Formats: sequence, structure tokens, C-alpha cells
Amino acid sequence: MTNSSNSGSVGWESPSNIALIKYWGKKENQLPCNPSISMSLQNSFSRTKLTYQAKGKENLLSFLFEGKKQKQFELRIANLFENLSDHFNFLKEFQITISSENTFPHSAGIASSASAMSSLALCLCSMEEEVKGIKMSKAEFHKKASIIARLGSGSASRSIYGDFVAWGKSKSLSNSSDEYAIPISQTTHPVFQDFQDTILLVSSKKKEVSSSVGHQLMNNHPYASSRFAQANTNFDRMIAVLQSGNLDEFIEIMENEALSLHALMMNSTPSYTLLKPNTLELIERIKSFRSSTKIPIGFTLDAGPNIHLLYPKSENEKIIPFINSELTSFLEKGKYILDKRGKGPQKLKI
Ligand code: PMV
Repeated sequence: MTNSSNSGSVGWESPSNIALIKYWGKKENQLPCNPSISMSLQNSFSRTKLTYQAKGKENLLSFLFEGKKQKQFELRIANLFENLSDHFNFLKEFQITISSENTFPHSAGIASSASAMSSLALCLCSMEEEVKGIKMSKAEFHKKASIIARLGSGSASRSIYGDFVAWGKSKSLSNSSDEYAIPISQTTHPVFQDFQDTILLVSSKKKEVSSSVGHQLMNNHPYASSRFAQANTNFDRMIAVLQSGNLDEFIEIMENEALSLHALMMNSTPSYTLLKPNTLELIERIKSFRSSTKIPIGFTLDAGPNIHLLYPKSENEKIIPFINSELTSFLEKGKYILDKRGKGPQKLKI
């Protein structure tokens, strides 16, 4: 038991993640229709600070993004707070100011809701410890943060941990849950050490259809049940591949997941396409480079046109020249972002 506190500040840095097995389709309370697996990133993260003060007359919540008031996200957080009263019964008693910034450019095809919501969830758990004067165990703290992050944005539940992470109940993983994510890197093969994720920027435009609409369209999707069965099979195979280090199989599963996600968008009603012609051109070039060089490089896609290129660190010397000579002309302003497997959130010393 430590002293409880009426005012203070807490802060966390928390990463974005890239899904290898995709979460697409959800039930009430942001519970997923199938289990997913992601890799947390190292360089792409949100840095969030939360300042709290016991409430005077006003019940203020204010949210600043990169120093500026951001009304839209503030509203999203206010709605989230309404749903969190069971988890944090003290929230209504405080005025809260949240300020957040990202290390990666806005709309760069990097999931910002995952890093933003996970860093906020971690801040709220730290605040709880301070205002109640308690100290949770590390495992308890992370589990609670993952549940809270999930309520903010499903994929954010996975950003609470570094390395490879699973979220969603699966028969093959006994401690898995729909409510929170769990780390799965205990026995990962050394080939995935420092695994690279180079993000090719095809377009930074805001996407025409949000992920929440995409999830909803899975409710009446004609392929929903076969998709969830496919995701479960791919999930089991990916768990095995992360241990065996079989990169050919890793690439096959990861690309199958990426293209299945976009296929589901294309045959939703109404249908939509987030891939751009340059995305397809790049995919062809990546495949042909792989088949001629035998270098184990594979791609995945988030809900957008940008490509995540995943490959072992040892291949960097061959892959960067390939990107520079054959791919950059298809990228927005020739830009790409170098990232890799990361170690997970860090508490800020404030
Ligand atoms: O967390 P949301 O609701 O933004 O959904 C994310 C969905 C995908 O990024 C396409 C897949 C995933 O598992 O991260």
C-alpha cells in the first residue's frame, strides 16, 4: 500500500503493431470474432501524458494531440470514459488532461489508434495505482491495461506487450482470451530476432471507409463463417511457425491473411477497395524479387493501401537497395519508414 494521491501526472510510450493474423469482425464490447497475432513495432509509438486533479466545480476532460486541441479524439475518449466506470470508479472525480504525440507521421499507414489507445490505457492503470494508493502485480497491471485498450480500439489490446502477441480465444492456446491479449514470444525462433518491418507509403490520404465500418460489414458478410474458420487455422499455423522459424510458411500465411482481409472488403455489401494500383504493382515486384533471389521477404497490409515488408535483419543489405532501385518510384514522395520488432511499452519518468 502506498499513499493515495489527489493530483499527479503519469505517462507512457506505447507502440503500434502490425497484425500477421488479422482481426476483422467483432461482437459487442469489442470482442473479436477470431483470434489474431501481431508484432509490436519499435520506432512507431505514441507518447501520452495524463495529468489529473481532484474535481473542483467542473468535470473537465481535455485532449491535446501534438500540442493542439483535438475535439474529435476528445469526444472518442469521453465516450470511452463513460464505458469505463466499472473498471475505474474514480474517473468521474477528476479533471483530466491528456496530451499525446506520435513518433510517426499522421496517416502514414501505421495504426495510430493502437498506440494511442494502448498508451492511454496504461496511463489510466498507472493513475489508478496512484489515486487508490495500490500497486498491482506486473501481470495484473498489463492484463487490465490490455482490457482497457481493447475497449478503446480492438487492436490496441495487443500493443500492451512487445514482440509477438496474441489476442482472442483459441483452443490451441490455453491462456488466450477474447478480453485481453497475451505475449507469445517465450519460444520464438531466433530468425525473428530484430525482425524488420519496412513500411512502404503508397498513400497517406485518409481512408474512405473506417475500420469500424469494415468490422460492421462482417456482420452480414456471406463469407464470415469461412473467414473465421480460415483465421483460426492460420492462427494455429502461425503459432507453430513462430517456433519453427519456417519463413516460407510464415510468408505464405501472412500474405494470405493480408489479401483475405482486402478480399473481404471488396465483396462486402456495399463493397469498397482500399488497395491502390501502386499497391498491386508493388506486390508483383516483391513477389518476383522473392522468386528470383530466394530472399525470404513477405508483405502484409493493414486496412489501407500501404505495404509492410517483413524480413530477417540479415537481409537488410540486399533489400534496402532493392527498395531504392525498384520500389520507391511507386511510393508517395518516394517515402518508406524503417521499423522492426519492438520491446513494448515504456513508462515515462515524470
Ligand atoms: O483495432 P481496429 O478496430 O482499428 O481494427 C484493426 C483491424 C486491422 O488493423 C485491419 C487488423 C488488425 O488485427 O490489426
